[in-house]
Amino acid sequence: MSLSVEVVAFSEEEEALVVKSWNAMKKDAANLSLKFFLRIFEIAPSAAKLFSFLKDSPLPFEKNPKLKIHAMTVFLMTCEAATQLRKVGTVTVRETTLKKLGAKHVKSGVLDEHFEVARFALLETIKEAVPEMWSADMKSAWTVAYNHLVAAIKEEMKSLA
Ligand code: HEM
Repeated sequence: MSLSVEVVAFSEEEEALVVKSWNAMKKDAANLSLKFFLRIFEIAPSAAKLFSFLKDSPLPFEKNPKLKIHAMTVFLMTCEAATQLRKVGTVTVRETTLKKLGAKHVKSGVLDEHFEVARFALLETIKEAVPEMWSADMKSAWTVAYNHLVAAIKEEMKSLA
């Protein structure tokens, strides 16, 4: 079962812009994922305190494997969201996954502003990773996919708040 949000037109070209840039970034995904979240913490230092595994760890952020995993999940799920948007016009996340995601983010104190900062940091990271392919259309395609994925998570968070 899945929860649908809103039906949008997302073209094959838009999906291709996301997938093409992700394919180019994939080989360096671990580093880029780390860069992505370090950028978030530069803009919003307090966001680091939301992560139990950062709060309780003596390791510096950049040495913490769990941070990379979370960051990579955001990249991957945004990519998947682009494909779903093109195929069915909505982002569908399995209900059990969405429930877990919603509950975890509510419990950790993640706010709308964090999702906003993360979108900015995500786009900056991609722009710097693939400057030769970057374009307004690519930025827009990633933005739409990310926004729809976050909308699905926030919808679940709202129902729990
Ligand atoms: C946990 C995905 C955005 C903060 C998680 C988990 C996933 C995930 C899969 C693990 C859930 C579990 O253990 O059950 C995503 C996706 C995002 C997103 C797909 C955006 C599209 C954010 C943002 C923040 C954030 C913007 C804050 C800056 C957290 C925190 C946890 C978490 C604090 C709990 C970590 C812990 O203490 O174990 N997220 N996340 N997430 N996420 Fe996100």
